[in-house]
Amino acid sequence: MAEAKKLFIKTYGCQMNVYDSERMVEAMGAQGYEQTERAEDADMILLNTCHIREKAAEKVYSELGRMKPLKAAKPDLKIGVAGCVAQAEGEEIMRRQPLVDLVVGPQSYHRLPQMEEKIRTGAKALETDFPQEDKFLHLPKERLPKKGPTAFLTVQEGCDKFCAFCVVPYTRGAEVSRPAERLLGEARALVERGVREITLLGQNVNAYHGEGEGGTWGLARLIRTMAKIDGLERIRFTTSHPNDMEDDLIAAHGDCEKLMPYLHLPVQSGSDKILKLMNRKHTAESYLRLIERIRGARPDLMLSGDFIVGFPGETEADFQDTLALVEAVGYGQAYSFKYSARPGTPAAERPGVDAAEADDRLQRLQALLGRQQKAAQDAMVGREVKVLFEKAGRLEGQLVGKSEYLHAVHCDAPAEMSGTIQKVRITNSSSNSLGGTLVSGAA
Ligand code: SAH
Ligand code: SF4
Ligand code: F3S
Repeated sequence: MAEAKKLFIKTYGCQMNVYDSERMVEAMGAQGYEQTERAEDADMILLNTCHIREKAAEKVYSELGRMKPLKAAKPDLKIGVAGCVAQAEGEEIMRRQPLVDLVVGPQSYHRLPQMEEKIRTGAKALETDFPQEDKFLHLPKERLPKKGPTAFLTVQEGCDKFCAFCVVPYTRGAEVSRPAERLLGEARALVERGVREITLLGQNVNAYHGEGEGGTWGLARLIRTMAKIDGLERIRFTTSHPNDMEDDLIAAHGDCEKLMPYLHLPVQSGSDKILKLMNRKHTAESYLRLIERIRGARPDLMLSGDFIVGFPGETEADFQDTLALVEAVGYGQAYSFKYSARPGTPAAERPGVDAAEADDRLQRLQALLGRQQKAAQDAMVGREVKVLFEKAGRLEGQLVGKSEYLHAVHCDAPAEMSGTIQKVRITNSSSNSLGGTLVSGAA
C-alpha cells in the first residue's frame, strides 16, 4: 500500500466545528489520509474556521499567509478553508489568497472526497450550497475508534432565531434536525467504542424536532430514549435558547438520571431594552422565572451562560441590569464577549458603544463572573462528586476527568480507571480545576 498522505486540520470556534473536524478526518481517511499534528508534514491543510466575532476572517487570512513557505517547500501541498468563514466569504477567499485550493461550507462536508480528487488535478474546488440532505449521511460508516470516553454528537444544525448580532443563521443556514433513529444508532456505535458520555450538539439544540417513531420528537424524548442505552452513563446538551426550554426538557433535568446537572443557557443581556434590540424574544424576568423552574426540577443544577456587552444602544444603566441579572442567577461558569459588528447582520448598521466603555464593562462583568465561578468551585470542596476519568492528569499517577457539574477534577488514580466513573472527594479548588481523592471501595 502507498504511504498514507497526511492531513493537518486546525479547528476554530464552537464544538460543532470540533465535531465537524472529526467527521472531515474520517471522510479524508477514506481518501487515504491520516491526521498529523504537524502542519509541516502535511499534504493537505484544512482550516475549520469561525466567523462569530470580528477579525475572525482576518485571522484566517493571516494564518493562510503564514502557509506560504510551506507551500513553497512542498508545491503539492493542498490548502483548504472550511467552516463559517468559508460559508460567509466563499470565492472571495481564493481571490484574496490564491494559494487556497478548496473552500467548503459547513453543509457540504460530504462533498470533500470529490473535492479532494478535483484539487489533486490542479483545479480549485468551491462548495457553499445548503443542500437539502443530511451532510453526515454520506460520510463513511466505518468510524475511527474514539480517543476517549466522551464524544460530541450533532443532532441539530442551523438557527432560525436571527438575533440581531449573530452570523450563525447565515453561515449555518436554517434549523435542521437529524432523524432520531440515526442518532440513536450513532450513540450505540459510540458506546460500543467505549464512549460513556455524549454531548448532544446544536446551535439551538433544544429546538430539536427530529423525525422519530410515531412522529416528531423533541429533545427531551431523544434524551430519555438515548438514556436507555446500556453503557451510556451521561448525557449533556449544548447550546440552548431560553425560549425552547420546554416543560418536558425541564422535567428531564429532574427525573432523567443520566442527564447531567449542568446547563448552558445564554441570556446575552439583563436589560429588556437591549434584549428587544437584540431580537432575543425573551425578557430578563422570563429568563429568571425559567431558571427558577429548572432549579425546581434540579436544585443542584450548575448554570452557564453567554453575555454580550457594548451592544449598540447599551447604556450604563442597561449594563447594570446585566450585572443585576448575573447576581440574581449565580453562574457556575460563563462566557462574556464585547459586541462585535458582523457584516450582514441587522445590528451592524447601528451606531456602536464607545470602545473604551465597552472594554470597561467587559472587565467589570468578567470580574463578577470570575468571582461566581470561583465561589461555585470552592463550594465543591469537601463534597463527593462522580468523575468520569478521561486521561492522564498533570502529575505522574494522576487522572483527570469531569464531575457531573463539568468541573475538571485531578485525582491520584490508577491508569486502568481511565474511561470509568469514580467517586471522588474534592479536597481543593484552584484557578480552573478541582483536586480530589478517590473514595475507596466505591464506583
Ligand atoms: N446558538 C448559541 C450560541 C451562538 S454563538 C446561542 O444562541 O446561544 C456563541 C455566543 O457568541 C453567543 O451566545 C453570543 O454571546 C456570542 N456572540 C455571537 N455573536 C456575537 C457578536 N456579533 N459579538 C459578540 N459576541 C457574539
Ligand atoms: Fe445566533 Fe441567536 Fe441563533 Fe444563537 S439563537 S445561534 S445567538 S441567532
Ligand atoms: Fe463560529 Fe460557526 Fe460555530 S461562526 S461559533 S464556528 S457556528
